[in-house]
Amino acid sequence: MNRPSAFLIAATVTVVGCASEPARAPLPAPPDVCSSAPVTTVDFVRDVQPILDAKCVTCHRPGGVGPFSLSAPADAHANAAAIRGDVCSRKMPPWPPSAACNTYQHDRSLTDAQLVTLRDWVDSGADITGAVEHTPAALTGLSRVDLELSAPDAYQPTLVPDDYRCFVLDWTATQDRFVTGFGVTPDQAAEVHHVILYRIAPADVAAITAADDADPVPGYTCFGGPNPSTSKKQTTVGVPSMIGVWAPGAQGFDFPSGIGIRVVPGSKLVMQVHYHSHTGTPTPDRSTVQLKLDDSVAREAFIIPFLDPNWVKSATMNIPAGQKDVFHAFRHVGSDFTNRISAGVLAKTSAYEVHGAVLHMHTRGTWASLSVERAQPAQTQCLLELPKWDFHWQGMYLFDKPQPVAATDDLRVECHWDNSAAGATALNWGESTADEMCLGFVLATAPSP
Ligand code: HEC
Repeated sequence: MNRPSAFLIAATVTVVGCASEPARAPLPAPPDVCSSAPVTTVDFVRDVQPILDAKCVTCHRPGGVGPFSLSAPADAHANAAAIRGDVCSRKMPPWPPSAACNTYQHDRSLTDAQLVTLRDWVDSGADITGAVEHTPAALTGLSRVDLELSAPDAYQPTLVPDDYRCFVLDWTATQDRFVTGFGVTPDQAAEVHHVILYRIAPADVAAITAADDADPVPGYTCFGGPNPSTSKKQTTVGVPSMIGVWAPGAQGFDFPSGIGIRVVPGSKLVMQVHYHSHTGTPTPDRSTVQLKLDDSVAREAFIIPFLDPNWVKSATMNIPAGQKDVFHAFRHVGSDFTNRISAGVLAKTSAYEVHGAVLHMHTRGTWASLSVERAQPAQTQCLLELPKWDFHWQGMYLFDKPQPVAATDDLRVECHWDNSAAGATALNWGESTADEMCLGFVLATAPSP
């Protein structure tokens, strides 16, 4: 959507941040449709089950990440009150992006009509007469799997409840190949909370394998990216080069037609797994990434990180303790950084096209947004806004429609944090759970021909 610049907020509420790029107001929250009067007479089999099948059973299935199965009518009935609460508050299904910003492929959220149907089913007694339990449809996603990779051995998480582990995956291809689709099959679905796959360039492989070798069990501890947490505030690998992001319930997906991410011979991949264990004795896990690969693509794709380089180089992303809303924002013409990260490929045109976006902070983040600031005519094109940042539900969001970016357009990222908890200390950029980050990523290619 096109949003008028809303700079007023900086003057009206206490927001601590960078003066050069003022904070914006968040987009409006979705309407509270559950407070409206009942509208539908609901039949479970006819009206409710299709919604559960389409929007819930990817996670709420036997062995899935959801705490009960919504393919079982008795479970739906038994959890009716919780279902009403969580769909009305829009906590379920988890779908972080603001619908007021942009539209996405694989959108998991409920329409207002679906939401009202579920509410009216619960309010009329959550009847399940005539329903039978059925086997949920197989999860589908990638159109083709060419390569499956996993850590050499299972890893038993040792840090409870959260263990962030990076596994080095071998890349044996002897010629350039392009990743054109990405998926993850968690081994212990109840424990694996998100997976991010990174590409490690040949020059950085030694640092990564040294960290792996120094740790006697599979992988090494990492947090904000593929860099070992022991690397303190220095970035060993520079700004991470991402291939894909997976969160529970996401299915594998093909990249938009004709685009792919190049991996050169001598590279490695790093699979970062966030384990979230509910018990003191997590089960050993050996999760798998699936890749669709092609030898050539029409347009090479780059997942380009966007951030203020001074946050990393000069520690300017200061987040003082005791503040409820601290923000940092950065806006800049894309061409210099896109040239560097795309090894000159996007420099040929200066303009480019964005197909998807990611936002990344650590655990104190509250909300963030990424936009294109168009020069002609001057307007904001919202790419992705995450109104309630949740570190546990990170994802890559593919747009319904790719967005052209002109050479004169800027990218802009804005992140907000709450650092007011008792005992909080000042935060800054870094790799560990006790540090913060603010990164936008765009999946970019040269413009469509
Ligand atoms: C992408 C995966 C996913 C999808 C899709 C999903 N859920 Fe969930 N659900 C979870 C997880 C994981 C939890 C456990 C709580 C958490 O981690 O947030 C949960 C918890 C819940 C709870 C709370 C249970 C409790 O004990 O309090 C309810 C109710 C619920 N889901 C209902 C639904 C309904 C209804 C749908 C579909 C309209 C849905 N969920 C879709 C993953 C999902």
